Amino acid sequence: MKSGRSKLGKWDDLRMQVFNNPTPNEIKMAAKALKDGNLVAFPTETVYGLGADAENAKAVNGIYSVKGRPTDHPLIVHISSAKQSSKWAIDVPDYATKLANEFWPGPMTLILKRSELAKDFITGGQNSIGLRVPAHQIAQALLWEFEKYGGHGLAAPSANKFGAVSPTTSVAVLSEIGDELSAGDFVLDGGQSSIGIESTIIDCTNKDPIVLRPGVVTSEMINKLLGVEINVVAPYSSVRVSGMLPTHYSPKATVKLNENAKSGDGFIALADVPTPVGAIRLAAPINLHDFGQSLYASFREADLMGLKTIVVMPPLGDGIAHAIRDRLNKAAG
Ligand code: TXA
Ligand code: MG
Repeated sequence: MKSGRSKLGKWDDLRMQVFNNPTPNEIKMAAKALKDGNLVAFPTETVYGLGADAENAKAVNGIYSVKGRPTDHPLIVHISSAKQSSKWAIDVPDYATKLANEFWPGPMTLILKRSELAKDFITGGQNSIGLRVPAHQIAQALLWEFEKYGGHGLAAPSANKFGAVSPTTSVAVLSEIGDELSAGDFVLDGGQSSIGIESTIIDCTNKDPIVLRPGVVTSEMINKLLGVEINVVAPYSSVRVSGMLPTHYSPKATVKLNENAKSGDGFIALADVPTPVGAIRLAAPINLHDFGQSLYASFREADLMGLKTIVVMPPLGDGIAHAIRDRLNKAAG
């Protein structure tokens, strides 16, 4: 239980509330709770986020303590539409506006020069701010309702413990952080995240864009839109993006890539790759989309089964395959 947040008498009253397929009224309740300084975990099309009012230092602090995340790691602010970016960002370059018009709402985060509104407790003291307009219907509804209460954006990292695998269902959220949430907090269920891996992060603070974290908005798509060859930061650079720490997105089991699976090992590969004798098939995705969507759920299943090792045959090629390999490399440490 985190400090400084409401604690009531009965054990039941200490717990957050879960809304399955929330009604408009329940979404409104969650938006009000956010405005009052509570936390709300909510679905997005990439992964589930743990939200707090991005202007409320105490609420944002709650995110860090629930996740066990170092406070110098910046958070992404989620906004209802591209129009809201002018509140949080200044000197937005033309190419960033083009990206926003093309890919928002959607699985893309833009790093922009911050405005006065973006305080150090959001940006980790950096002069930039990460912004994203999520497409998931519940995330959208929550943001619109939150703005009706006078809010301007929700800080929301993935709703997992620091360094662990991002949740793609509300059940995964509860198993990650359910015990840390308290009375007044909510978990909104919106089914399985359709994409299953985190947004593409694009640094837009320089003359040309740089991809900091690959995702389903691929470099090829960005190049095509902007007509430039964009840079992708080498993995594990010194840029302060927590997703760039060498081990991240990791299950408890050891992840091994392209190795021979032994008896009792978990095994993940595209459907046309046969399961090695004695290995436990965790996923047999039929295409890259399916691979991304099922990956984190398969990691969780392996941990629930108590497996020691997961062998993965990473997909080849560019685009989404590149984003999946990025997460696999990080999970394998
Ligand atoms: O798909 C997603 O992006 C999900 C959903 C919930 O929106 N969110 C997510 O947040 O993955 P998080 O905090 O788990 O990962 C965001 C990454 C972190 O590694 C953070 O360090 C980086 O974005 N980031 C945020 N603001 C930044 C900034 N101003 N400059 C550089 N990196 C930043
Ligand atoms: Mg994360």
